[in-house]
Amino acid sequence: MKDSDANLLERRVDLLGSAYRLFYAEPLHIVRGEGIWLFDADGRKYLDMYNNVPHVGHCHPRVVAAITEQLSTLNTHTRYLHERVLQYAKRLTAKFPVELDTAMFACTGSEANELAMRIARSSTGGTGFIVAQHAYHGNSKATYEISTEDIAEPEIPDYIVTVPFPDTFRGQYAGEGAAQECADCLQVAIETLQGRGVRLAAFMIDTIMSSSGVINLPAGYLSAAAKIVRDAGGIFIADEVQPGFGRMGETFWGFEADDVVPDIVTLGKPMGNGYPLSGVIAQRRLLDKFSATEGYFNTFGGSPVAMAAGLAVLDVIESEAL
Ligand SMILES: Cc1ncc(COP(=O)(O)O)c(C=O)c1O
Repeated sequence: MKDSDANLLERRVDLLGSAYRLFYAEPLHIVRGEGIWLFDADGRKYLDMYNNVPHVGHCHPRVVAAITEQLSTLNTHTRYLHERVLQYAKRLTAKFPVELDTAMFACTGSEANELAMRIARSSTGGTGFIVAQHAYHGNSKATYEISTEDIAEPEIPDYIVTVPFPDTFRGQYAGEGAAQECADCLQVAIETLQGRGVRLAAFMIDTIMSSSGVINLPAGYLSAAAKIVRDAGGIFIADEVQPGFGRMGETFWGFEADDVVPDIVTLGKPMGNGYPLSGVIAQRRLLDKFSATEGYFNTFGGSPVAMAAGLAVLDVIESEAL
């Protein structure tokens, strides 16, 4: 590592502490991005093969212009009336099956998942969650507890049960019946929760299983899993923070690879091309109790600038036929 980078690293640990993680044994010092390229402090050019945030390209001029224009006009929270939040909610929900008709906005995927967990609890009356092994769903307390990639096994609270992730390459179930066999594990999980006196609230899964190795779910898994969960009174939450907005290639959302409509979908990372923007798209019927008893606002989520970023990302996806 160059002396200047070693110095940067040392000052970083000094000021930010050692909890922060970095990519690569020899961390990169990136100072500029443009389209698919990243540039380090020496001007060396890297093809960004990892990129999971600046979805339509680093510093896309259309997104930059939209953010800049709105930022110089108004940027405040969603407790004033404003057209932008409605324009975006309409454009976004139009990308979903009709049942998923209500949009709520936040800033991070963690917040979106935590909000989805609250809605699941209030709409079902249950508290239990089923999640896949090796999952990552966020860094807040509730989402850390369901992030089985991070939380140590003995720390997992009683209201959470894990199921094997349906990896038909290296997993336990690989044959033709793998989708149903994996889904059947949810029945066992529901019984485990019942044995602990915990009622099911939801099954949450990242539909590309990014932290489990980026694996396509076997066809039929999500629909079979959703049926088992709904029969037990729970709901199905698709975490689309990684796969959403066309990152799967053939479908706009990960869940669309199967014949299933989730009860809630959570969004994040690519949504604002780097501007902090995340969302919960829910079936309206689930929100009745939540709206009456808990209510919602988010200081930065859904601000006019965030909405300008989101709208510009959709414009680029559509106009460049990405
Ligand atoms: C599948 C998935 N869900 C949720 C999150 C949390 O998003 P954020 O880091 O924006 O809180 C991540 C972040 O990596 C993720 O990969």
